[in-house]
Amino acid sequence: HEIYFEALGGVVPTLPMAFAELEERAAAALAPSVWSYVAGGAGDEFTQRANVSAFEQWGLVPRMFVGADRRDLTVDLFGLKLASPLFMCPVGVIGLCGQDGHGDLATARAAARTGVPMVASTLSVDPMEDVAKEFGDTPGFFQLYTPTDRDLAESLVRRAEAAGFKGIVVTLDTWVTGWRPRDLSTGNFPQLRGHCLGNYTSDPVFRSRLPVGREDDTQAVVMQFASVFGNPLTWDDLPWLRSLTSLPLLVKGLCHPEDVRRARDGGVDGIYCSNHGGRQANGGLAALDALPDVVEAADGLPVLFDSGVRSGADVVKALALGATAVGIGRPYAYGLALGGVDGIVHVLRSLLAETDLIMAVDGYPTLADLTPQALRRRR
Ligand code: FNR
Repeated sequence: HEIYFEALGGVVPTLPMAFAELEERAAAALAPSVWSYVAGGAGDEFTQRANVSAFEQWGLVPRMFVGADRRDLTVDLFGLKLASPLFMCPVGVIGLCGQDGHGDLATARAAARTGVPMVASTLSVDPMEDVAKEFGDTPGFFQLYTPTDRDLAESLVRRAEAAGFKGIVVTLDTWVTGWRPRDLSTGNFPQLRGHCLGNYTSDPVFRSRLPVGREDDTQAVVMQFASVFGNPLTWDDLPWLRSLTSLPLLVKGLCHPEDVRRARDGGVDGIYCSNHGGRQANGGLAALDALPDVVEAADGLPVLFDSGVRSGADVVKALALGATAVGIGRPYAYGLALGGVDGIVHVLRSLLAETDLIMAVDGYPTLADLTPQALRRRR
């Protein structure tokens, strides 16, 4: 309503209203190497494109005479009452997208202003305690890249609990970095490392592993980080992960129904269906195409979804295919690049407004109304 009110009053928005323009302007605003990192994906980016085009294979069927003048977008997730089913995915090194280098804090502030939760990445400039302080009343989640050092993993989770995070999201698909030609050709990796170690340099266990006297030596920190970062977890590690916290535990990167069943049996509280926005392995199935089987196998467990969501229509389609909550990654990073906290808020509000309007016009006033019956495959 506010957005339309401003438009009817003749206010021309300074920030883009359509995703294509958002992307184009972010590309122009960011340094080329940062743009490559944020926008790029694995290989020739087939999977990344498939994530987006998968949404075009589905069409919503409008219903009339519903009188959907009031919509209810609220979601109950692990007993938390969320204002909407939208959330912000963990985006590591997002500091690079913000003008002041503190993109994690900006994202948390946007979460506070909109009620849209942030999943805070392990790879942040600012320590998680500082990020959590900005959440206001909006719940936040902590995303864990599980280090090989178990004491460090435990320390990160304890800190997340103490800082007031409401759940732990363990990302499983990134114990090794995917083949990313854009990053490789810009020689990006050293630059990235300098902007993502806030949770490590502030950690007592991490610091205790550094050579005495070199706790603040960047070279020593980076080497220690590189030596513990990637843990190729197996199912044998799930009981240990589960034992780390009594907070809701989610596993991110699941696309195969058998993995979902096993994770469910292993006691996780939520499934997070994603292919990392096509950044990790090229040649993969679009995440949206994996979603229906994941939802079925989850058998009632909440299913978070991301990868390729670019519009309110996409949000509605993912919800209709069974997602409990829908995440965006790149779109809010682009908003940050263009307008800081206001830019992120603008992207979130626009997505929510479009989602709400589609539910109104198409006659699906509540999330419970959005079922697979609302969709048809395009012929
Ligand atoms: C990511 N993603 C990610 N995921 C994660 O679990 N931890 C992380 O640190 C990161 N870092 C990261 C950086 C950047 C620049 C991007 C774009 C993405 C993946 C992210 O959480 C999410 O799965 C995808 O971004 C979703 O796809 P879209 O919305 O970007 O298409």
